[in-house]
Amino acid sequence: MKILAIESSCDETSAAIVEDGRRTLSCKILSQIDIHKRFGGVVPEIASRAHIEAVVSLTEGALADAEMTLPEVDAIAVTYSPGLVGALLVGVNFAKSLAYATHKPLIAVNHIRGHVAANYLAHPELKPPFLALVISGGHTSLMKVNSFTDYETVGITRDDAAGEAFDKVARVMGIGYPGGAEMDALANIGNSKAIAFPRAIVKDAPYDFSYSGLKTAVVNYLHNAEQKGEEICREDVAASFSAAVCDTVQNRLSHAIDDFKMPAVVLAGGVSANSHIRKCVEELCKSKGVSLYMPPLSLCGDNAAMIASQAYYEAKAENFANITLNAVPVNNKFVK
Ligand code: KG4
Ligand code: ZN
Repeated sequence: MKILAIESSCDETSAAIVEDGRRTLSCKILSQIDIHKRFGGVVPEIASRAHIEAVVSLTEGALADAEMTLPEVDAIAVTYSPGLVGALLVGVNFAKSLAYATHKPLIAVNHIRGHVAANYLAHPELKPPFLALVISGGHTSLMKVNSFTDYETVGITRDDAAGEAFDKVARVMGIGYPGGAEMDALANIGNSKAIAFPRAIVKDAPYDFSYSGLKTAVVNYLHNAEQKGEEICREDVAASFSAAVCDTVQNRLSHAIDDFKMPAVVLAGGVSANSHIRKCVEELCKSKGVSLYMPPLSLCGDNAAMIASQAYYEAKAENFANITLNAVPVNNKFVK
């Protein structure tokens, strides 16, 4: 089954064709980072417009790269939730039109499930059940993945996503948007024990996350130093901040591995590209004796191939959408 998928939930427009959920035939991605950079973050209205401008040519490009024509595609898939509502609507309306015009089945895919599915593309042997942690610019979700389409969220961020904290701290440090990758590089050469930033725990919710306190602590540290005219060591700030994020990830995963006894852990999302987080999760899984799967760096960020992969399993479960499909911007505990 060859599925054409469209992704437009945030600031990447992407179109891809994947066969049977595992074989990527083509994947076109157009990042809007250069457009949003000057504003220090994603401007939703500009993102929607840029998606409109890009979606047709990217879809044509994905078909051309796969040496296919639209009639040869078996189904059309699209990210419908969560994300920026205007951005999601571009993909949803485009995919609905394509499906209607070609009489092909339409499949609505949850973006968080899509991030997890990036691992199906990279690891042919991977199948549920497993524990999944999706950490990205907009999401921090810890889930029991019981089957390809049965997700149970056990932990979620109460405030900011991990990536939001990376990007905000980076911005205050004068690093351009998005700052995660550069923070990663700075942290490599800094001292992670130099500054004691807080590690938040959420009372009576051992798997939930909270990053706004950590973010504020780092921002306050930077502003204080600036007001006093003190020099800061950017590498140490990045390393100490990264260590705090790693500790919170390790702590939640450790509890979940012990409590849910899942045979494997799957990491996904833009922040799963972080070398420090990858290393500390690797160490944790090794010490607990569970397998760990992580996407290659090329599949950590937003792309439509991961959406096409998850769409295959939604189709197998007969989870089809119809012309009434709408965008759902909110991320709640029900990753449907
Ligand atoms: O998954 P993604 O492309 O978009 C969302 O679904 O939100 O994630 C983007 C996020 C940004 O916040 C970016 O700074 C972060 O992923 N990121 C990183 C790294 N590479 C990208 N954060 C930490 N370390 C990295 N190496
Ligand atoms: Zn994403």
